[in-house]
Amino acid sequence: MPPAELAEILAALPKFEDPNLLVGFEGSSDAAVYRLRDDLALVCTVDFFTPIVDDPFWFGQIAAANSLSDVYAMGGRPILALNVVCFPKKGLPKELLKEILRGGCQKVQEAEAVLAGGHSVDDPEVKYGLSVVGVVHPERYLTNAGARPGDRLFLTKPLGLGIVATAIKGNLATESLVQRAIEIMATLNKGAAEAMLEVGAHAATDITGFGLLGHALEMAEASEVELVVEAHKVPVLQEALELVSMGMVPEGDYENIRFCEKKVKVEGNIEESLLTILYDAQTSGGLLISVPEDKAPLFWERLLAKGVFEAAEIGFVRQGSPRVVVR
Ligand code: CO
Ligand code: CO
Repeated sequence: MPPAELAEILAALPKFEDPNLLVGFEGSSDAAVYRLRDDLALVCTVDFFTPIVDDPFWFGQIAAANSLSDVYAMGGRPILALNVVCFPKKGLPKELLKEILRGGCQKVQEAEAVLAGGHSVDDPEVKYGLSVVGVVHPERYLTNAGARPGDRLFLTKPLGLGIVATAIKGNLATESLVQRAIEIMATLNKGAAEAMLEVGAHAATDITGFGLLGHALEMAEASEVELVVEAHKVPVLQEALELVSMGMVPEGDYENIRFCEKKVKVEGNIEESLLTILYDAQTSGGLLISVPEDKAPLFWERLLAKGVFEAAEIGFVRQGSPRVVVR
């Protein structure tokens, strides 16, 4: 849902006061964090959505990778997952659901977590995802608050996945582009999360529905800093750029532009299509990570060691009123 609408609805709910609830509703964080002991906290999240690719096995993998991502974004280690399934009683072959669940299962295994059950609902529109529980040290979890002036910004997956998803629906994506996007979306943010913990990153979030600039703006606001994004350093799918030039822009991207525009300052001449892709709503996108400047070289090394080859340094953090500068 659009963040403003959601905020209005959530504002009407009673507030829960609990000293052990370290991260709750407030601050548009990726998951909730609850302290059990001085050295142990839970990271809890749930996410599910409708199929974005035709292949059920890949869809299952993507949905699971996306659900696990919110735990990784907070520096947590997933330990337990439950399936969330909406599937019609009649009209679709059960084989389809088997394949979706097999895909989800594979990603949970890859995350070295355990799949322990789930819940299914009869629904004409297929939906799938996971509820995930992870663990983290109560003093070591990361949020989108905590980015400090001087930090370097990294993005760990290329942008354009929302545009490709729309092109798939319109039968306008080439076979190779579809496969490339699928593989990116199904990739776990595990390696990126481990690398950021190893170097002591200051802040992180995963790039999903609000696009890079939307989530960057949330980080700027939560951290009370200015984020500078160097547009030409941002990794993007070239074919997605071409699709944007042809007018293939998801409605959600226009919403993101409208929502963020006032607090995003564009400096210099940036091509319209590149700017649009910076707002593109991602499914199972990469992590945006704010790393202390002196740790940036080591972070690079750790990313490569973990096979996160598509990551890029995309800008930096500086003092200023909360906003994003794109240049
Ligand atoms: Co998230
Ligand atoms: Co989420």
